[in-house]
Amino acid sequence: MGEKRTVLRTKVGIVGGGPAGLMLSHLLGQAGIESIVVEKRDHETIRTTHRAGILEHGSVRMLTEGGVSDRVLRDGYRHDGIDLRFGGESHRVDFQELVGESVWLYPQNEVFVDLAAARERDGGDVRYAVTDTEVLDQATDRPKIRFTDDQGADYEVHCDILVGADGSQGICRRSIPADVRNDHFIEYPFAWFGILTEAPPSAPELIYANSDHGFALISQRSDTVQRMYFQSDPNENPDDWSEDRIWDELQRRVDGPDGFELKRGPIFDKTVLKFRSYVCEPMRYGNMFLAGDAGHTVPPTGAKGLNLALADVSVLFQAIESFYASGSRDLLDGYSDKALQRVWRAQNFSYWMTSMLHTRPDASAFERRRALGELSGVVASRHGQAYLAEAYTGWPHA
Ligand code: PHB
Repeated sequence: MGEKRTVLRTKVGIVGGGPAGLMLSHLLGQAGIESIVVEKRDHETIRTTHRAGILEHGSVRMLTEGGVSDRVLRDGYRHDGIDLRFGGESHRVDFQELVGESVWLYPQNEVFVDLAAARERDGGDVRYAVTDTEVLDQATDRPKIRFTDDQGADYEVHCDILVGADGSQGICRRSIPADVRNDHFIEYPFAWFGILTEAPPSAPELIYANSDHGFALISQRSDTVQRMYFQSDPNENPDDWSEDRIWDELQRRVDGPDGFELKRGPIFDKTVLKFRSYVCEPMRYGNMFLAGDAGHTVPPTGAKGLNLALADVSVLFQAIESFYASGSRDLLDGYSDKALQRVWRAQNFSYWMTSMLHTRPDASAFERRRALGELSGVVASRHGQAYLAEAYTGWPHA
């Protein structure tokens, strides 16, 4: 380094300024506990990165009752159910009727915008576009974050508690020595080809479709912009797909005797999303705690990624607050086990939805028919539907 490195003192040092890091910093700020957040991307890059769009009721409550923003209630869309579509027929799962809950369609980038604005409004210390971030001394009671800010100045943050909220590609998880870290990992032999289109909604709610040609998800963004996905090869090149080819592929996956037809429009974004399930166990190393995608990844079929991150933050916030209020580390010591309980339930739910709705490229006729048997068993049973509704809308927060 050579040049001088400025030391910053704070209570909680947070690596990652996505929804998990910002939400934690926000909650800590409200409790009078100072924190510093460092994030390698700039604000604009995060704001324009398309991610999933479904919020559980517990996530919505964290945003509204937590004083972040009530924009989700004004600009988001409440959905009281989803359609499971297979054999060319739609079957509605009515969340309100089954479990008395709903979800909100509100894209993750809007959640980021709200949280970033709330941190700015409340004088939070969030540094975007930093480089050369490193974490040090995690296993001591003075963990540190080194980084270079967007002006080229070098810093070292000294904190009591370090939080890794730096996503699945982040540095924090990788800084845990291999002999104390268990990586649980599976890959899937397919991906999602996602599009954004300028078109009116094709249906009032989300459609999760299993078809002989593979899975499709008909989602939404607004009255004029829609989000749709179809199961594809992980190595598919978006440039090989013309608009007509994409629409024909999506349409044949929802075709049925009811004549359901997608409303087509210009496509302005195409991305291939890889599918992974991953858990880092434990979600802790010394005084460094992992939250959100830094600790786990789920495939998007259950819409659990962001929701799980916020649930982690809720548990971690209570533990940190209790530490500063009482000096006791009990809740911090219990954080990983408590968070992992929900994580593994969500892993199972995401895996279940994925395997029930997708078709592996090498699937036998038996496997395809078995998945249809599972789907028809779920929709024929009030208990089966209620299990799905409860998991999808979100188990109560701890
Ligand atoms: C989305 O709208 O991006 C979305 C919705 C539901 C999912 C995944 C993604 O399960």
